[in-house]
Amino acid sequence: TRVRSSAASDVYKSQRIIGTGSAVPDFIVKNEAFETFLDTSDEWITTRTGIHERRIHEGNLEQLAAIAAKRALEDAGLLPCDIDFIICSNVYSRFMTPALSCVVQGLIGAGCPCLDINGACAGFIYALEMANAYLKHGSYKNILVLSAEEPSRMADWTDRSTCVLFGDAAAAAVVTSGGFECLFSMHTESNVEFLHAYNSPGNCPFERTGRKHEAVYMNGREVYKFAVNAATNDIIALCSNAGVELCKVDWFILHQANLRILDAVRARLTQPKEKFPHNMERFGNTSSAGVPLMLDQLNRDGALNRGDVIAMSAFGAGLTTGACLMRW
Ligand code: UT7
Repeated sequence: TRVRSSAASDVYKSQRIIGTGSAVPDFIVKNEAFETFLDTSDEWITTRTGIHERRIHEGNLEQLAAIAAKRALEDAGLLPCDIDFIICSNVYSRFMTPALSCVVQGLIGAGCPCLDINGACAGFIYALEMANAYLKHGSYKNILVLSAEEPSRMADWTDRSTCVLFGDAAAAAVVTSGGFECLFSMHTESNVEFLHAYNSPGNCPFERTGRKHEAVYMNGREVYKFAVNAATNDIIALCSNAGVELCKVDWFILHQANLRILDAVRARLTQPKEKFPHNMERFGNTSSAGVPLMLDQLNRDGALNRGDVIAMSAFGAGLTTGACLMRW
């Protein structure tokens, strides 16, 4: 069993998503491109991950994030001045400070307080849970929950075991108070070894740890095992707490890391393929942007009906997992 330091799960009646938006870079890098500088193949990447191509951002992440945010506002029918708070899930951007959300706030012309969180690939669900708590508390009415990630800047592009996996993207949801019951489950199992990236140590002359900058390192097999177990257990526990049978869930929106992980979770939940939408084949693993990117695609395709039951689940460095059961 996993050791869990977790936030208490609870049922809240407070949150509804009223708009979504996303933005991906124009520049497409197909699997074949890696064959030119790494000992890898399209065949290996496709069969082991389901990924065919990913988008790599050539510009600054805040621009992409602002486009996603504006699209979410437009979809919600709100103006920037209607937003009371921005929570941005982000692991890495060119800013150590200010927070990316502060930069985006200026770009979209909002005037509200802002905060960034780092929940790694599970960050969107952590941010959604925070928004839910703010809304329940009555502090704010409309909150922009944004995920903006550029893992391409963290990766070591000479390491075939990680750089082929990731892509850049930004995606957002506008959440408002009122609406349906929403259930969350968040867990953290502290583990630096399996998945980490070290910051630059700076040039403090008194630093004695000898630490160095290190790009993303991942023990893929260990993270894979953790992910399948965590996502399956979280979804089963959420549904059981909510008294919702798995067959009554219309959509399972999982972290878009690997098609094999998604299939393994689906097999354990014994639910049909159609309920597990995926787009990692086109965008790769976009860290915390993956779940809202998928949500936005479903929304824009007109696939979601008001009242649909959605289970979201994501996992990442920490090791963190987050899951959410909500109605559209
Ligand atoms: O969002 C963050 C969360 N992270 C994840 O979700 C990742 C979870 N893990 C995974 O998705 C999979 O473990 C990977 C896709 C990362 C790796 O797949 P795998 O089936 O677990 O492969 P492996 O790590 O066991 O490696 C198998 C072989 C190794 O060679 P040997 O030791 O068997 O000779 C690797 O060196 O594949 C080799 N390999 C590659 N070969 C060609 C690793 N990367 C590549 C590559 N191309 N890109």
